[in-house]
Amino acid sequence: MQETRQAFAESRAAKTLREIFQSGRPLIYIRSAEEQRVALVLRAAARSFAAEPLPVLTWSLTEGMRHEDGELQEGIEGPREALDFIAAFQSPAIFHLKDFHDPLRESAAIRRRLRDLYESCLDQQRFIVITSPVRFVPEEIERDLVYLELQLPDLVELSHFLREETRQLSARGIEADSSEATLAQLARTLQGLTLNESRHAVRRAVSTTGHLGSDSLPALLEEKRLLVNRSGVVEFVTGNTEISQIGGLEVLKQWLIERKKLFQLRDNLSTDIVPKGVLVMGIPGCGKSLCVKAIGSYFDLPLYRIDMIEVFSGRHGPPEGAFVQACKMLEEMAPAVVWFDEIEMGITSADTGGEQGRIFAFFLTWMQEKARGLFVAATANRIDLLPAEMIRKGRFDEVFFVDLPLDEERADIFKVHLSRRGVDPAQVNIGRLVAFANGWTGAEIEQCVVSAMTKARLEDRDMTEQDLVNVASDIVPLSRTMKEQINHIRGWASERALRASRRPITR
Ligand SMILES: Nc1ncnc2c1ncn2[C@@H]1O[C@H](COP(=O)(O)OP(=O)(O)O)[C@@H](O)[C@H]1O
Ligand SMILES: [Mg+2]
Repeated sequence: MQETRQAFAESRAAKTLREIFQSGRPLIYIRSAEEQRVALVLRAAARSFAAEPLPVLTWSLTEGMRHEDGELQEGIEGPREALDFIAAFQSPAIFHLKDFHDPLRESAAIRRRLRDLYESCLDQQRFIVITSPVRFVPEEIERDLVYLELQLPDLVELSHFLREETRQLSARGIEADSSEATLAQLARTLQGLTLNESRHAVRRAVSTTGHLGSDSLPALLEEKRLLVNRSGVVEFVTGNTEISQIGGLEVLKQWLIERKKLFQLRDNLSTDIVPKGVLVMGIPGCGKSLCVKAIGSYFDLPLYRIDMIEVFSGRHGPPEGAFVQACKMLEEMAPAVVWFDEIEMGITSADTGGEQGRIFAFFLTWMQEKARGLFVAATANRIDLLPAEMIRKGRFDEVFFVDLPLDEERADIFKVHLSRRGVDPAQVNIGRLVAFANGWTGAEIEQCVVSAMTKARLEDRDMTEQDLVNVASDIVPLSRTMKEQINHIRGWASERALRASRRPITR
């Protein structure tokens, strides 16, 4: 029974089309390179439009006019005959005209005929759907026509697609797990891709693993990473980072734990309570990026990173356009965590055209209006470069300041990195190391552990506490050489941000 119910779930795209049909507009133009997908969506909309599904007839220059069962309608070859056929058709139906932009461009007679058809199809439940990879809408029919660009497929559409895909794989004798749980898991992984890209990803995964099931996830994720990253500005970040891998930063961690609950309830909460996002600023190497990766995993959502350096590089067109487009693309990928990494990176003093200002203004409006399912995590080293509106209450749910780790936090960070590398922290006098590591960043603590491990490995023995101490005495922490900058950041943040650690540092 599950199967039947699922089959009737309506995708976002099918719903859009059904609503257009119901509004009675007979002429629709869909720009999409995904003809197969459009055909599926059309059929779904045709089914849900009325109790009795509308038949879908398809015309193309090479295939002529075909009925839904594939049967050819004799004698209908050129575009003119196709339109005449529609004019003479007496009962409700949907006519899918593939690549009809060419005849529209070439022939005034065709354009005229289409306008006549508008009149004769109106209120007759006969719908003409033109599809084309390009937008070509002649002026004289512009007002009679609904123009549509399909958004990325949603979970319903991806599940339909996967069900069909598993059916085809099984028919070819390839093992494919079609349980609802697995399909839902796979669909979530494919979210953010077009249907063609999804098909490509699935086939690649099948060719690597020999079958399709929940253990195909890593291969699918990797394909998705490659496909998403082709866009250049948005990067799909894979990998699991547990909250337990963060040493210290207890206030921030506790906040995230609470936010996760609220975020999961987002559809039933008023807009002002739904978590929008967090800005994490502070000293380089103290775990800002680490925290954002942990948010993705902890919220159990895909994580997309926007590279501000790429945005401003000009490699993807004018920065403003590239940025706006990236944000739009992310809207379609909800639910997700969106990471604006080192968001101040784009800011330079040489902004003569006001482009940076416009980008940040757009960003702030977008933050207010974006889809509920997007949680924004922005990180910044030099928050003092950011426009003041960005930090003002209400933009982000919270602004956190990540300082150099406190004694206890450094102990925590040592433990995290030792255990991650298979060393039992109980074997090491952590207190001694913590004293050595006064003023170190988390990254420096990690570097100390890695160097000591490397040294021991090279000498073909286990690492000892003395290895750690030896390395530690050689490390010159950033905070010593950058004392002034750090004090500047601290002074700036103390009034504007919440400390991510539990108690204030005593200086
Ligand atoms: N609080 C921390 N707990 C555990 N590891 C840390 C912490 N801070 C930094 N690190 C280590 O240092 C690396 C670099 O930190 P990162 O999060 O990239 O710093 P930031 O983004 O603040 O510059 C991390 O990947 C992690 O291995
Ligand atoms: Mg970082």
